[in-house]
Amino acid sequence: MTQEFKAFRGRIFDFDRDAGMNDLEKHYRYFPDGLLILKDGKVLACGDFEKLHAVFPGLDDVTDYSQCYIFPGFIDAHVHSVQTGAIASDGSQLLEWLANYVFPGEKQFDNDQYAYEHTAFFINQLLKNGTTTAAVFGSVHPASADAVFEISAQKNMRMICGNTWMDTNAPDYLLRSAGRSYDESVKLIGKWHGKQRLHFAVTPRFAVTSSPEGLEAAHALVEAYPGIYIQTHIAENKAEVHEAGRLHPSSRNYLDIYDRYGLVNNRTLLGHGIYLSEEEMERIAQTGASVVHCPTSNLFLGSGLFDQTKMLHHGIKTAVGSDIGAGTSFSMLQNLNEAYKISSLRGTPLNPLQLFYFITLGGAKVLNLDDRIGNFDPGKEADFVVIDPSENDLLNYRIARADSIEDILFSTVILGDDRIVRSVYVMGKKLIGKD
Ligand code: GUN
Ligand code: ZN
Repeated sequence: MTQEFKAFRGRIFDFDRDAGMNDLEKHYRYFPDGLLILKDGKVLACGDFEKLHAVFPGLDDVTDYSQCYIFPGFIDAHVHSVQTGAIASDGSQLLEWLANYVFPGEKQFDNDQYAYEHTAFFINQLLKNGTTTAAVFGSVHPASADAVFEISAQKNMRMICGNTWMDTNAPDYLLRSAGRSYDESVKLIGKWHGKQRLHFAVTPRFAVTSSPEGLEAAHALVEAYPGIYIQTHIAENKAEVHEAGRLHPSSRNYLDIYDRYGLVNNRTLLGHGIYLSEEEMERIAQTGASVVHCPTSNLFLGSGLFDQTKMLHHGIKTAVGSDIGAGTSFSMLQNLNEAYKISSLRGTPLNPLQLFYFITLGGAKVLNLDDRIGNFDPGKEADFVVIDPSENDLLNYRIARADSIEDILFSTVILGDDRIVRSVYVMGKKLIGKD
């Protein structure tokens, strides 16, 4: 195979691999005039333009993004591919919202063609917002996960997905026996897991729609395929927590409903986690599982204010998810904007480095993918976003007054959205581009 070199000049920002939430100021890298060199879709080198160019003198054809910022591709650690149509459906909290809008909307994915078309729209929304990797919930229909995998494979994206399991407490048209969901998941694993850049996640929706048999079957799947992820929801809403306790009376707490079935390990992504007790947090930290903060969703459904400080205190890894359609924006920048405000309301505002870490290297660590994505270390897969602030004149005006990279990052988070995403590259190939 002939080797393909590509090079990009711009304002390049990332974190080094030793970065953690507490010491990011020592672990970020910013090259105001930087050069990113790729070979066969992976990072060959990244650094200061003048210095690197001297080492690689044969590089002709450098793509010039020198007025733009280049970031690792954004990571959305919790999103529903089958809820784009439910976005901005007003007037209720979680359980009513699911019953009134989400379940009827997900039913439509029983039609394979509908599933494919609406998933194509969904993936395009991720990409045009700069999201190159996501952990995705489908509907109960395997065609919904097939569509995510198939379109992601065509685009060569690194993606996690699973068919959602519900074997109790949902409308009949969405109920699937544990055995059927198990068999359909086995088929999806055979077809997609480990192919190209794809990963399967067993996806019991939440404790309210999972019977003990369903959770036992999910456990059996994890035992049979230890490399798969586990994703679900936990402690998002007070009425939900109450329902979960009522339906699983022998469990000590919400986490224990999953934990007693062996579903909490370092490949587990727990969405929301607003109402977790100290005991549950301690146990999550012990298992190495992660909690995914879904800021726009938690505000939209009036669910509550996530406590990032407590998570940090317990040593729990966290990432951020858009949680479309309860979330109100595919833009991870806008999700960070709301995460900041929530942390501010809690009296412990997140700093701009922490915010950017969530959707780049921190997110990659949560997904155990930091050996492949999340920053520009040599050998990493070259998924990246080119941000052009001049596409948003208010942001451009604000950045002209910024006195540090932290200030630039912060104003980008607060004011930025899909308008400023100029180009998106996946494995070095441009998938979104305004030029
Ligand atoms: N809990 C169970 N299912 C869902 C869902 O689809 N969205 C949200 N936000 N929470 C859930
Ligand atoms: Zn969700």
